[in-house]
Amino acid sequence: MKTEQHTTAPVTLITGGASGIGASTIRRLLAAGHRVAVTGRDRGRLDRFAAELATEFDEADAVLPVAADTTDFGAVRAAVEATVERFGRLDHVIANAGFSDHGNLADGDPDAWREMLLVNVLGPALLVKAALPALKESGGRIVLVGSTAGIKNTPGNMYSVSKTALTSLAENTRVLVTGAGVGVTLIAPGRVDTPFWSTHPDGAVPAGPVLTAGHVADAVVWALGQPDGVDVNTVVVRPTGQLH
Ligand SMILES: NC(=O)c1ccc[n+]([C@@H]2O[C@H](COP(=O)([O-])OP(=O)(O)OC[C@H]3O[C@@H](n4cnc5c(N)ncnc54)[C@H](OP(=O)(O)O)[C@@H]3O)[C@@H](O)[C@H]2O)c1
Repeated sequence: MKTEQHTTAPVTLITGGASGIGASTIRRLLAAGHRVAVTGRDRGRLDRFAAELATEFDEADAVLPVAADTTDFGAVRAAVEATVERFGRLDHVIANAGFSDHGNLADGDPDAWREMLLVNVLGPALLVKAALPALKESGGRIVLVGSTAGIKNTPGNMYSVSKTALTSLAENTRVLVTGAGVGVTLIAPGRVDTPFWSTHPDGAVPAGPVLTAGHVADAVVWALGQPDGVDVNTVVVRPTGQLH
């Protein structure tokens, strides 16, 4: 039997949430009694992740895994529709999917840049467009996971270019939707120890200060938890000791 919380708890849709910052955020939201839809490209990986969560939280109905490519508008729109159909509402979307080719303009792979711009910039824009009608209804919030690389340039780095565009998308979106009662938060983390770094030439996060995925998840959940009428727009979270 469904409890009151099952039908009224806030609903969040997060992209690329089966690992790293996304997975930590989902765990925190579930611990707070929320409901979550999570997208990813690999159906099998998503289903395994959802099964893990069901065991961990003793709750089979609070997670909806949706296989979707975040650069395909039809798939993103279908993910939003599936979320609203399953849970009856949508309170937050988190554009979290993203990656870096870890190269630069001199030595990077142009095909990887194309993919990176699509995933890191177009994907979040598609999510905003697809989710806006439901978010206007709920007076919800859009969270975009950017980067300190989107605030401070690093030499010739196309990832930095993509995240700078995302920083701009956040403010573009805010001025579009704030009058409709929808909030927008850019979360810009510094270095975080996640699978993001598995494609780095060193195969791991570079030596030096790092955050955990949980540190960033705490910032996301804090932004989502602001009271009605409060719009936190930019949260920059660096590990102490990270210069830029
Ligand atoms: N780790 C850091 O140091 C750091 C710092 C600043 C900002 N960020 C940002 O934080 C966000 C989350 O990253 P994370 O650190 O948690 O890394 P992560 O564990 O690798 O998670 C990123 C997710 O993005 C999706 N993704 C990766 N490559 C993709 C591609 N080519 N096409 C579509 N989706 C793709 C993946 O989902 P599926 O494979 O399931 O589709 C993956 O689960 C990203 O936007 C990243 O840019 C990370």
